[in-house]
Amino acid sequence: MKVREALEKATAELRYAAERPRLDAEILLARHLGWERTALLLRDREELEDAEGFFALIARRKAHEPVEYLTGRVSFYGEEFFIAPGALIPRPETELLVDEAAKLIRERGMRRIAEIGVGSGAVSITLARLFPELEIVATDISPEALEIARKNVERFGLGERVELRQTSLLDGVGEVEMILSNPPYVAEGTPLAPNVAEYEPATALYAPGDGTSLLREIVALGRDREVPVLCEIGYDQRVPMEEFFQAEGIEEYRFYRDLAGMDRGFIVPFGTMKQ
Ligand SMILES: C[S@@+](CC[C@H](N)C(=O)[O-])C[C@H]1O[C@@H](n2cnc3c(N)ncnc32)[C@H](O)[C@@H]1O
Repeated sequence: MKVREALEKATAELRYAAERPRLDAEILLARHLGWERTALLLRDREELEDAEGFFALIARRKAHEPVEYLTGRVSFYGEEFFIAPGALIPRPETELLVDEAAKLIRERGMRRIAEIGVGSGAVSITLARLFPELEIVATDISPEALEIARKNVERFGLGERVELRQTSLLDGVGEVEMILSNPPYVAEGTPLAPNVAEYEPATALYAPGDGTSLLREIVALGRDREVPVLCEIGYDQRVPMEEFFQAEGIEEYRFYRDLAGMDRGFIVPFGTMKQ
């Protein structure tokens, strides 16, 4: 079978399983052959090596396995990170969390911050690359996620500045100037697409009740430590978080939105406001 025929067949096979069947087929074929995607067009009359191996990948994609887990790569903030089952695949909207964190770090000249729930490490690594003086303590309860983060931290040569710790929230973590998190916030029992529900770690997605329990705990940590808190939230969690802020007498806070106008996160500037 020629490269071109393989691409056509794979695209047809992914027709109902993938949102972008042709793109996924190209990405997986390029990965399978170790070529750049552009080479697929130029060399489309060549005989495909190990067609069976390629169609085994296509079968996994057809069963909804995410392309990122199949290739071991994910793009975040213009960089490529290693990814594997065990860590959440970083989402484009989380780049906004990086942008909001970067503003605060720059404004206040922060030197040491914490990330709760580091996952693959994409957020902490991106910030460490943006701020060459910054140190980050990045926690996670999942040893699998921490192992994936460790590979990324090493790959970017950031072992000196991004410290990975297996602990819950900030247990055992000393002084930091800001707490940043994209915690699990999906309400228990929420049905998710099969590519997410069947492949991404449940501990990275779900939080008890309406999904805001960890967000509330993180806000409480910021209040106790008197440092700003910055968190990503689900698009429908602004109201419960505002109710929580009001109930707790927290008056100063700000929500940020994504390009589609959906609520995506909040900042509570503890430590700098009058309460
Ligand atoms: C939504 S993922 C975010 C991963 C990564 N920061 C990102 O944005 O792509 C949430 C992460 O929080 C971790 N986590 C869940 N409960 C935690 C806890 N109590 N303390 C620290 N990390 C926790 C999960 O293991 C998971 O890696």
